[in-house]
Amino acid sequence: MTGELEQIAKNFARSREFTELMTYYNCAIMEIETKLRVLDAEFSLQYDRNPFESIETRLKNPVSIVEKMQSRGLELTCAAMERQIFDIAGIRVICSFKEDIYKLSDLLVRQDDVLLISRKDYIEKPKPNGYRSLHMLLDIPIFLAEGKRHMKVEVQFRTIAMDFWASVDHKLRYKKHLRSSEEIMEKLRLCAETLADMDDEMENIRRSIDFES
Ligand code: GTP
Ligand code: MG
Repeated sequence: MTGELEQIAKNFARSREFTELMTYYNCAIMEIETKLRVLDAEFSLQYDRNPFESIETRLKNPVSIVEKMQSRGLELTCAAMERQIFDIAGIRVICSFKEDIYKLSDLLVRQDDVLLISRKDYIEKPKPNGYRSLHMLLDIPIFLAEGKRHMKVEVQFRTIAMDFWASVDHKLRYKKHLRSSEEIMEKLRLCAETLADMDDEMENIRRSIDFES
Protein backbone atom coordinates (compact mmCIF):
# COMPACT_ATOMS: atom_id res chain seq x y z
CA MET A 1 0.00 0.00 0.00
CA THR A 2 2.84 2.35 0.87
CA GLY A 3 4.32 1.47 -2.48
CA GLU A 4 1.17 2.62 -4.25
CA LEU A 5 1.20 6.00 -2.49
CA GLU A 6 4.84 6.45 -3.36
CA GLN A 7 4.13 5.68 -7.00
CA ILE A 8 1.28 8.22 -7.13
CA ALA A 9 3.50 10.83 -5.48
CA LYS A 10 6.32 10.08 -7.88
CA ASN A 11 4.05 10.58 -10.89
CA PHE A 12 2.54 13.73 -9.45
CA ALA A 13 5.97 15.22 -8.68
CA ARG A 14 7.34 14.44 -12.13
CA SER A 15 5.60 17.27 -13.96
CA ARG A 16 7.32 20.51 -14.94
CA GLU A 17 4.52 22.43 -13.20
CA PHE A 18 5.20 20.71 -9.88
CA THR A 19 8.95 21.32 -10.10
CA GLU A 20 8.36 24.98 -10.88
CA LEU A 21 5.93 25.41 -8.02
CA MET A 22 8.32 23.78 -5.55
CA THR A 23 11.08 26.10 -6.75
CA TYR A 24 8.81 29.09 -6.07
CA TYR A 25 8.06 27.76 -2.58
CA ASN A 26 11.77 27.45 -2.02
CA CYS A 27 12.25 31.08 -3.11
CA ALA A 28 9.56 32.16 -0.66
CA ILE A 29 11.41 30.32 2.11
CA MET A 30 14.60 32.16 1.16
CA GLU A 31 12.79 35.52 1.28
CA ILE A 32 11.42 34.93 4.78
CA GLU A 33 14.66 33.42 6.04
CA THR A 34 16.59 36.49 4.85
CA LYS A 35 14.10 38.80 6.54
CA LEU A 36 14.58 36.87 9.79
CA ARG A 37 18.37 37.02 9.49
CA VAL A 38 18.26 40.77 8.82
CA LEU A 39 16.09 41.26 11.91
CA ASP A 40 18.51 39.08 13.86
CA ALA A 41 21.47 41.24 12.87
CA GLU A 42 19.69 44.44 13.82
CA PHE A 43 18.22 43.01 17.02
CA SER A 44 21.62 41.86 18.23
CA LEU A 45 22.96 45.41 17.77
CA GLN A 46 20.07 46.83 19.76
CA TYR A 47 19.70 44.26 22.54
CA ASP A 48 23.13 42.66 22.48
CA ARG A 49 21.72 39.18 22.01
CA ASN A 50 20.41 37.08 19.15
CA PRO A 51 16.64 36.69 19.07
CA PHE A 52 16.79 33.19 17.68
CA GLU A 53 19.11 30.23 18.13
CA SER A 54 18.45 28.50 14.83
CA ILE A 55 16.23 28.35 11.77
CA GLU A 56 15.11 25.13 10.11
CA THR A 57 13.46 25.17 6.72
CA ARG A 58 11.77 22.43 4.79
CA LEU A 59 9.68 21.76 1.71
CA LYS A 60 6.97 19.19 2.26
CA ASN A 61 7.87 16.01 0.41
CA PRO A 62 5.65 14.72 -2.43
CA VAL A 63 4.49 11.67 -0.42
CA SER A 64 3.30 13.87 2.47
CA ILE A 65 1.66 16.28 0.03
CA VAL A 66 -0.24 13.51 -1.76
CA GLU A 67 -1.19 11.87 1.55
CA LYS A 68 -2.67 15.13 2.82
CA MET A 69 -4.47 15.88 -0.44
CA GLN A 70 -5.95 12.39 -0.60
CA SER A 71 -7.08 12.53 3.02
CA ARG A 72 -8.90 15.76 2.23
CA GLY A 73 -10.42 14.37 -0.94
CA LEU A 74 -8.68 16.93 -3.15
CA GLU A 75 -8.11 16.54 -6.85
CA LEU A 76 -4.43 15.77 -7.38
CA THR A 77 -3.43 18.90 -9.29
CA CYS A 78 -0.86 21.63 -8.71
CA ALA A 79 -3.63 24.24 -8.70
CA ALA A 80 -5.49 22.41 -5.91
CA MET A 81 -2.24 21.90 -4.02
CA GLU A 82 -1.40 25.62 -4.11
CA ARG A 83 -4.94 26.64 -3.17
CA GLN A 84 -5.55 24.15 -0.37
CA ILE A 85 -2.29 23.00 1.20
CA PHE A 86 -0.69 25.71 3.28
CA ASP A 87 2.32 24.01 4.80
CA ILE A 88 4.32 23.18 1.68
CA ALA A 89 6.93 25.76 2.58
CA GLY A 90 7.83 25.60 6.27
CA ILE A 91 10.17 27.57 8.47
CA ARG A 92 10.84 26.83 12.14
CA VAL A 93 12.46 29.51 14.25
CA ILE A 94 13.92 28.38 17.57
CA CYS A 95 14.35 31.13 20.16
CA SER A 96 15.78 31.12 23.67
CA PHE A 97 13.03 33.26 25.15
CA LYS A 98 9.28 33.54 24.68
CA GLU A 99 9.56 37.31 24.66
CA ASP A 100 11.80 37.14 21.57
CA ILE A 101 9.24 35.00 19.74
CA TYR A 102 6.67 37.80 20.03
CA LYS A 103 9.16 40.57 19.21
CA LEU A 104 10.51 38.78 16.16
CA SER A 105 7.15 37.63 14.79
CA ASP A 106 5.68 41.13 15.21
CA LEU A 107 8.60 42.72 13.39
CA LEU A 108 8.23 40.21 10.58
CA VAL A 109 4.50 40.67 9.97
CA ARG A 110 4.81 44.46 10.18
CA GLN A 111 6.94 44.52 7.02
CA ASP A 112 4.88 45.88 4.17
CA ASP A 113 5.42 43.01 1.73
CA VAL A 114 4.48 40.38 4.32
CA LEU A 115 0.82 39.57 4.69
CA LEU A 116 -0.41 37.68 7.74
CA ILE A 117 -3.07 35.21 6.62
CA SER A 118 -3.60 33.46 9.94
CA ARG A 119 -2.02 33.15 13.35
CA LYS A 120 -2.40 30.36 15.90
CA ASP A 121 -0.89 31.03 19.29
CA TYR A 122 -0.41 27.63 20.91
CA ILE A 123 1.82 29.30 23.52
CA GLU A 124 -1.00 31.40 24.90
CA LYS A 125 -3.41 28.50 24.36
CA PRO A 126 -1.47 25.19 24.29
CA LYS A 127 -3.00 22.15 22.57
CA PRO A 128 -4.58 19.63 25.02
CA ASN A 129 -1.55 17.33 24.65
CA GLY A 130 0.77 20.16 25.78
CA TYR A 131 2.06 21.28 22.36
CA ARG A 132 3.28 24.87 22.36
CA SER A 133 4.41 27.07 19.46
CA LEU A 134 3.35 30.20 17.64
CA HIS A 135 2.18 29.39 14.09
CA MET A 136 1.78 31.99 11.38
CA LEU A 137 0.70 31.55 7.80
CA LEU A 138 2.25 34.26 5.68
CA ASP A 139 1.85 35.45 2.12
CA ILE A 140 5.05 36.74 0.56
CA PRO A 141 5.79 37.95 -2.96
CA ILE A 142 8.69 36.51 -4.91
CA PHE A 143 10.00 38.39 -7.91
CA LEU A 144 10.47 36.33 -11.07
CA ALA A 145 11.48 37.25 -14.62
CA GLU A 146 7.83 37.28 -15.69
CA GLY A 147 6.69 39.25 -12.66
CA LYS A 148 5.56 38.98 -9.07
CA ARG A 149 4.10 35.79 -7.61
CA HIS A 150 2.53 35.43 -4.19
CA MET A 151 3.44 32.37 -2.16
CA LYS A 152 2.36 31.00 1.22
CA VAL A 153 4.83 30.04 3.93
CA GLU A 154 4.09 28.49 7.33
CA VAL A 155 6.33 29.82 10.09
CA GLN A 156 6.54 28.15 13.50
CA PHE A 157 8.19 29.97 16.39
CA ARG A 158 9.26 27.95 19.44
CA THR A 159 11.58 28.18 22.41
CA ILE A 160 14.33 25.56 22.72
CA ALA A 161 12.26 23.90 25.46
CA MET A 162 9.12 23.77 23.27
CA ASP A 163 11.16 22.34 20.43
CA PHE A 164 12.66 19.68 22.68
CA TRP A 165 9.17 18.68 23.74
CA ALA A 166 7.76 18.68 20.20
CA SER A 167 10.54 16.50 18.87
CA VAL A 168 10.04 13.89 21.60
CA ASP A 169 6.29 14.04 21.03
CA HIS A 170 6.85 13.55 17.32
CA LYS A 171 8.82 10.38 17.99
CA LEU A 172 6.15 9.13 20.38
CA ARG A 173 3.37 9.65 17.87
CA TYR A 174 4.96 7.12 15.57
CA LYS A 175 4.85 4.54 18.35
CA LYS A 176 1.19 4.91 19.24
CA HIS A 177 0.78 1.15 19.33
CA LEU A 178 2.65 1.01 22.67
CA ARG A 179 0.40 -0.22 25.48
CA SER A 180 1.68 2.47 27.81
CA SER A 181 0.67 5.16 25.32
CA GLU A 182 -2.10 6.79 27.43
CA GLU A 183 0.17 6.99 30.44
CA ILE A 184 3.00 8.34 28.34
CA MET A 185 0.72 11.02 26.86
CA GLU A 186 -0.15 12.18 30.38
CA LYS A 187 3.51 12.23 31.38
CA LEU A 188 4.35 14.20 28.24
CA ARG A 189 1.63 16.73 29.02
CA LEU A 190 3.13 17.22 32.48
CA CYS A 191 6.60 17.58 30.94
CA ALA A 192 5.25 20.32 28.67
CA GLU A 193 4.02 22.20 31.75
CA THR A 194 7.33 21.79 33.55
CA LEU A 195 9.17 23.06 30.48
CA ALA A 196 6.80 26.03 30.20
CA ASP A 197 7.48 26.90 33.86
CA MET A 198 11.18 26.63 33.11
CA ASP A 199 10.85 28.97 30.11
CA ASP A 200 9.17 31.53 32.37
CA GLU A 201 11.86 31.15 35.02
CA MET A 202 14.68 31.52 32.49
CA GLU A 203 13.02 34.65 31.18
CA ASN A 204 12.87 36.03 34.72
CA ILE A 205 16.56 35.29 35.19
CA ARG A 206 17.38 37.05 31.92
CA ARG A 207 15.41 40.10 32.99
CA SER A 208 17.22 40.23 36.35
CA ILE A 209 20.59 40.03 34.62
CA ASP A 210 19.62 42.75 32.10
CA PHE A 211 18.44 44.90 34.99
CA GLU A 212 21.70 44.48 36.92
CA SER A 213 24.00 45.15 34.01
P1 GTP B 1 -1.87 20.02 9.75
O1 GTP B 1 -2.85 19.64 8.74
O2 GTP B 1 -1.19 18.86 10.43
O3 GTP B 1 -0.85 20.99 9.22
O4 GTP B 1 -2.70 20.72 10.90
P2 GTP B 1 -3.28 22.20 11.01
O5 GTP B 1 -3.37 22.84 9.68
O6 GTP B 1 -4.48 22.19 11.89
O7 GTP B 1 -2.11 22.94 11.75
P3 GTP B 1 -1.64 22.87 13.26
O8 GTP B 1 -1.92 24.19 13.85
O9 GTP B 1 -2.18 21.68 13.99
O10 GTP B 1 -0.07 22.71 13.11
C1 GTP B 1 0.50 21.91 12.14
C2 GTP B 1 1.98 21.68 12.41
O11 GTP B 1 2.35 22.05 13.74
C3 GTP B 1 2.36 20.24 12.29
O12 GTP B 1 2.74 19.95 10.97
C4 GTP B 1 3.52 20.09 13.27
O13 GTP B 1 4.71 20.56 12.69
C5 GTP B 1 3.13 21.05 14.35
N1 GTP B 1 2.31 20.43 15.41
C6 GTP B 1 1.02 20.68 15.65
N2 GTP B 1 0.57 19.96 16.71
C7 GTP B 1 1.62 19.23 17.13
C8 GTP B 1 1.79 18.28 18.20
O14 GTP B 1 0.89 17.97 18.95
N3 GTP B 1 3.04 17.73 18.33
C9 GTP B 1 4.07 18.05 17.51
N4 GTP B 1 5.24 17.44 17.70
N5 GTP B 1 3.93 18.93 16.49
C10 GTP B 1 2.74 19.51 16.30
MG1 MG C 1 1.35 20.66 8.78
